[in-house]
Amino acid sequence: MNILIMGPAGAGKGTMSERIVKEYDIPHISTGDMLRENVRNGTELGKEAKSYMDAGKLVPDGVINAMVEKRLLEPDCQKGYLLDGFPRTLVQAEAFGEIANKIGKPVECVIALEVGFDILVDRITGRRICPNCGAIYHIKGHPSKVEGICDECGGELQQRKDDTVEKLRQRMDEYENSTKPVIDYFDKLGVVERIDAGKPAAEVFEDVKKALSKVA
Ligand code: AP5
Repeated sequence: MNILIMGPAGAGKGTMSERIVKEYDIPHISTGDMLRENVRNGTELGKEAKSYMDAGKLVPDGVINAMVEKRLLEPDCQKGYLLDGFPRTLVQAEAFGEIANKIGKPVECVIALEVGFDILVDRITGRRICPNCGAIYHIKGHPSKVEGICDECGGELQQRKDDTVEKLRQRMDEYENSTKPVIDYFDKLGVVERIDAGKPAAEVFEDVKKALSKVA
């Protein structure tokens, strides 16, 4: 299955992606996770991306497109893919179309998660992540068993630098101006499934599965 998952910061893209890849056995490709790994490892790409990410701004298209193309050309993507957080601009959407054709895997479904701002503030400020294994927690909604420690791998949980209300506003501006037009672009192709993601995660996942059953 060839899937994109889109939505504003904190909509639950990562949370739903964890569940989707378990159910459908396809690789999860998150541009945010790839960028954070590059920042942690101090690569040239990471050095270039860091200031944009810390400010809540989009990383330039050229960097992102090259990174995603390389990843989609890896053999595991012949099973399909779940792209999380890409494409986020119309330039990226066009580049994605070309890459998808090159590997013979055009997108079949775009899951668009929709959530109001107040809920996003609560999710973003309460989120904790495990830098080792990528597991996602929330201090109230989905706490780890031992405070500050990952249930999956024992790693020390962290708060992302961009998870503040001020940075969330900046990320929302980027979403409204650059990413919403991408959803409209895919809407014209008839592949978008809009989902109310303000509900509890288990209910949202039921709706995601219903949407994906149309292409499975
Ligand atoms: P990225 O990592 O993609 O961040 P984002 O889009 O801001 O999304 P988040 O990861 O913040 O949220 P999410 O929707 O995954 O929510 P989650 O499931 O964690 O990108 C980061 C940065 O990298 C960008 O700002 C940009 O600089 C750069 N970048 C990345 N891709 C790029 C691109 N293509 N082009 C240019 N730049 C790019 O959930 C959030 C919290 O809510 C968690 O605590 C979770 O437990 C909780 N939660 C989730 N769902 C529910 C639910 N249904 N009910 C209750 N709680 C829930």
